[in-house]
Amino acid sequence: MGESINLAVEAKGISKSFGGVLALDNVNLELRKGEVHALLGENGAGKTTLSNILAGLYRADGGTVLVDGAEREFHSPSQAIEAGIGMVHQHFRLVPPMTVAENLHLGSPDTPAIVSQKKLVASARRMMDEIGLEVDPTARVWQLSVGEQQRVEILRVLARGAKVLILDEPTAVLTAQEAKDLFVVIRRLVAGGRTVVFISHKLNEVIEISDRITVLRGGKHVVTRDAAGATPRELARLMTGEELDNSVEHRTVDGSVVLDLIDVFARNHRGIEALHGVNLQVRSGEILGIAGVSGNGQTELSEVVTGLRRTQSGSISIAGTDVTGGTTRSIAELGVGHIPEDRIGVGMAGSASVKDNAILRHYRSSELSSGTRLKRGSVIDFAKRLVAAGRVQTRSINMPAGQMSGGNQQRLVAKRESMIADRLLVAAHPTRGLDVLATKEVQSAIVERRDNGCAVLMISDDLDEVMLMSDRIAVMYEGRVMGIFDRSQFDRERIGMLMGGQVEGAPS
Ligand SMILES: Nc1ncnc2c1ncn2[C@@H]1O[C@H](COP(=O)(O)OP(=O)(O)OP(=O)(O)O)[C@@H](O)[C@H]1O
Ligand SMILES: [Mg+2]
Repeated sequence: MGESINLAVEAKGISKSFGGVLALDNVNLELRKGEVHALLGENGAGKTTLSNILAGLYRADGGTVLVDGAEREFHSPSQAIEAGIGMVHQHFRLVPPMTVAENLHLGSPDTPAIVSQKKLVASARRMMDEIGLEVDPTARVWQLSVGEQQRVEILRVLARGAKVLILDEPTAVLTAQEAKDLFVVIRRLVAGGRTVVFISHKLNEVIEISDRITVLRGGKHVVTRDAAGATPRELARLMTGEELDNSVEHRTVDGSVVLDLIDVFARNHRGIEALHGVNLQVRSGEILGIAGVSGNGQTELSEVVTGLRRTQSGSISIAGTDVTGGTTRSIAELGVGHIPEDRIGVGMAGSASVKDNAILRHYRSSELSSGTRLKRGSVIDFAKRLVAAGRVQTRSINMPAGQMSGGNQQRLVAKRESMIADRLLVAAHPTRGLDVLATKEVQSAIVERRDNGCAVLMISDDLDEVMLMSDRIAVMYEGRVMGIFDRSQFDRERIGMLMGGQVEGAPS
C-alpha cells in the first residue's frame, strides 16, 4: 500500500486503436510523485497517444486511469487539468498576436470575460513568482523565442494547478542553452513534489534528466527501469530490439564545386542582418556540415540557398548556374532537395494526404502528369514506392499527413527531398525528432546521396551528429563562417570555441 500512496497516476491496461491500427496495446504506466519519468520509443511507438489519453485529448478504448488512487475518466483536456494532469504539445498552441498575460488567462475558467490588461499582467506576475518561471507578461507571443514560448505553455498548464506535467519532445525545438534552462525548471518542479513526464529521442538527455524510464515498442510496454546506470546503447536496443552500428565512412573530396556562395548578406524575418558576407563552397561527393549554436545564421543560410529567402547582396551559384534571387521551384529543378528545419510549416501540408505530400516535388514530371492532368494510377504507385522506400509508417496513403506521428512526417519529407537531390541536398536538422533507427536510416540516405556525387550541406545543432557525418565542417557564429575544418583537423574543443565566437579555435 505504501507504493500506491506515492503514485500520482496509475494507468492500467490502456489500449487504443486508430482505424484498425493498434497504437497502444494493454499498456501499464505508473508515475510517482516527485519523479521525472521518461517515455522512450521509436517513431510511432505510441508515446504521444498515451500522453494524449492521460491529458484527456483522446479516450482509451480500454483500460483505466487512476489519479491519486481514484479512478478517473476524462472527456476533455480541461477535465484532465482539473484532476491535475496537463500537457505541453509538440506544436505549441499559443495565440501569437496576444500578450503573454492574455495567453496565460485564455480559456481559464477563473478569468472574467472583461478584464483590464493591467489586472491580467499583475496576476500573470503573481503566477510567475509562485511557480518561479519568468517571461515578460506584456510581450506579444510572436516576439518571443521558442524557449520563451515554451515557458508560457508550461506556465499555462501549471497555472491551472497541474501536478503532473507531460512534455512531448520539449527539447526538439530548443537550443542547447534553452534545454539546460528547461532542465533547471524541471528539477525545481519535481523537487516541489510534482511529476514530469519527459518525452525525447535524445538518449543522453533522457539519462541525464529522468529518474525512471519507460520504453514502448510498437504500442507495447517493454520495460520500466531506473535511469541511473542506463547507457544510450542499451536503451537503443530496448527501443528497437536491434543492435545498431553507428559509423559513417569518410573520404577526401576532390569533386567539383556544386554550391558556391560569394560574399552573401541577408536579413532574417525580423529584418535584422543574419548573414554577414558568407563565403562557402560545397563540392560534389562531400558532406559539408555547419556547426553552430542555433540562431547564428544557419536557418537563413539554408533559406537563401533554396530560394526561400532573398539575399541583400552577394551571389549564389549551383553547378555553375547563378541562382541568386531564384525561386524555390527553379532551384529545385536544378536537382536541389531541401529537408527544411520546419518540416510541418515548410516541408509539408498537414491537412493534405500522404499521397499529395509524396508527389509535391514530382507532380510535373512526365511519369506523373500528361501535361494537363495527373495520371491517377502512376501517382498512387509513386506515393506507395516513396512510402515503402522511406519506411514511412502510415495506415493509408490517403490519410492526412498531419495525422502520422511526428517522426513519420519527417521520414516522408526526408525521402522525398533525397529523391530529387541529384546535385545538392540541403538538410537542416535532418534527424531532429527521429528515433535511433530512423536517425540511422536518414543518415544513411544522406551518405548514399553523397556517394552518388551529390553535394550535401548539412546543418545541425547537435555537434556529435555534425562530427559523425561531415567530411568537412564550417563553423558559423553571428552570421559569419569562422573557420573550415578538414576531417583530419576535427577537434571538438577548437570547434566548440569557434562556435562561441572565440577565434583562437580557428584552423590555420
Ligand atoms: N489522430 C490519429 N489518427 C490516426 N492515427 C494516429 C493518430 N494519432 C496517432 N496515430 C497512430 O498511432 C501510432 C502511434 O503514434 P504516436 O503519435 O503516439 O507515436 P509517437 O511514439 O509519439 O511517435 P513520434 O516519436 O514519431 O512522435 C502511429 O501509428 C500513428 O500513425
Ligand atoms: Mg510523438
